Amino acid sequence: MALERRGKASVAFLSGGGFRGGNVAHGGDGGDFSRANVARLTRRGLRRYKTNGKASGVQQRDDDGIHMVPVARPDQRCAGVRTLFGQSRPADVPSSRTRLIPLPATRLRMSATDQAEPAAPTSVSANPMKIAVLGATGGVGFFILSALLRESTRRQMQLVALVRDVQKARGIFQQLDQSSQIDYRAVDTTSMPMQQLQSSLADIDVLVMATGTTAFPSKAWKGGNSPVRVDAEGVERVVAALPKDAVKRVVLLSSVGVLRKSSFPFSILNLFGVLDAKRRGEQALAAAARQNGFEYTVVRLGRLVGAPFTNVGAIRKDPDEAKSAVSLKLGDSLAGDLARSRAGEVVARSIFEPSAADKEFCAVDTEGAYPSSDEEWHELFEGLERPNEVLRIEYNSLNVAKMRTWLAQWSGAVLTSGALFPPLPEPVRFDPTESGCMLTFLDVTNGAVRPRGALNITLQEPTPSRKAAMVVFREPLLMDSPFRGERQILEQLKQDLANVSRYTPEA
Ligand SMILES: NC(=O)c1ccc[n+]([C@@H]2O[C@H](COP(=O)([O-])OP(=O)(O)OC[C@H]3O[C@@H](n4cnc5c(N)ncnc54)[C@H](OP(=O)(O)O)[C@@H]3O)[C@@H](O)[C@H]2O)c1
Repeated sequence: MALERRGKASVAFLSGGGFRGGNVAHGGDGGDFSRANVARLTRRGLRRYKTNGKASGVQQRDDDGIHMVPVARPDQRCAGVRTLFGQSRPADVPSSRTRLIPLPATRLRMSATDQAEPAAPTSVSANPMKIAVLGATGGVGFFILSALLRESTRRQMQLVALVRDVQKARGIFQQLDQSSQIDYRAVDTTSMPMQQLQSSLADIDVLVMATGTTAFPSKAWKGGNSPVRVDAEGVERVVAALPKDAVKRVVLLSSVGVLRKSSFPFSILNLFGVLDAKRRGEQALAAAARQNGFEYTVVRLGRLVGAPFTNVGAIRKDPDEAKSAVSLKLGDSLAGDLARSRAGEVVARSIFEPSAADKEFCAVDTEGAYPSSDEEWHELFEGLERPNEVLRIEYNSLNVAKMRTWLAQWSGAVLTSGALFPPLPEPVRFDPTESGCMLTFLDVTNGAVRPRGALNITLQEPTPSRKAAMVVFREPLLMDSPFRGERQILEQLKQDLANVSRYTPEA
């Protein structure tokens, strides 16, 4: 992380609803971020200031002397870039795609087009793999195995359903499994003797554990099938029974809140210990994976909604279809609903995604478009490798030098000039960097200025496997929540890019 000052910087100090001072962005450490550019920006701003005669302005000293800095009237605020640069284009940007992490994605589509595509990359090499879904008769288990059945039309695999009631499972999958691909095996994780459990798992390459029970006492607890028995002891037993040196990947379904069990609403959810039990299961799996050298994935699901309903009637809830994208994030920081159907596909896809290996992440529904291709799914999972990426705008081509200059001008005109409305809650400092720029959020307490963290805007040249992109990273790395004013800055950046390029921000 680099929060130190780079080159020369400009800082805006804002208070209440107004502007107190600021510098225009000015030359840094060479490159295209030249004084000439800055002077042109300043002259244009000044001309505007004089012409309309209505905007207010401030005087501010920098190395070039005293400049009038344009400040837009409230009705002109946010028009910064267009006002100052007209329709100039910062870069050659014939087409682009953007994603605010979490990645947006179209409505659930689990067949048709997907089947026509070549298979996505996989870190699991055995061919054909034997993939088992434990708890395939459950709400999410059903969607996992269904997604795998579809996947099996274009990727070689053998499917195994590990279920308590084989008859029930056959009934559920009869329609979908016309060619009788599924090998049904009876497994009860809590009551089955270890030896039998071991032989049921002996030839499995990939195991998905989708077992579970209700968080609160219900008839699902019958026979002692409580969270402690199923989510802790049951998972521990299965992990212990896994074939050593044979299994390649194990995916465990867990829940958001396992690492936040003391905070509301998870404290309520955990009244009967479901989060403690799930955490025990997670830890058993992670330890076994490290010890035996297989890949593991823990998917912490949001509150499950939608058919097939397994909750008690009173808390049934249909998925909000406006929220049809899925958000994935490392650790346990998301909260919200997740449609069972989407949960199933996320889990099924995770098996084939190298980026999901040895990861513990949460998944919830979010607004946007559901991934509609392997590539989009791949990108969604790749986001797990870049936990601090908050915005990515991809371009077919990108003139990095021009874009870098534009960013400097944009920061000066929009951020540090105080032209934003509403004003930023905290001052932001601009620093040019080799690959873009850094926007540092400053905490000013009792006259002391302390950097809180930064948005590192990085311009990436295209590579054979990657498009050119403007990528915004939040630093420091594990900073989980956005800075105050961060979302406003990113929205403004997207809007202003749309005004000067063919890039169109998504609704
Ligand atoms: N509900 C939520 O809001 C929520 C939120 C986050 C995470 N989760 C977790 O997400 C996972 C999937 O949830 P879901 O709604 O799909 O659950 P579900 O519908 O209750 O399914 C649970 C599955 O586990 C099986 N099972 C239960 N005890 C078993 C045992 N001792 N041995 C073998 N199989 C056993 C059940 O088999 P039978 O069909 O024979 O009963 C069923 O197939 C669970 O781990 C759940 O805890 C749920």
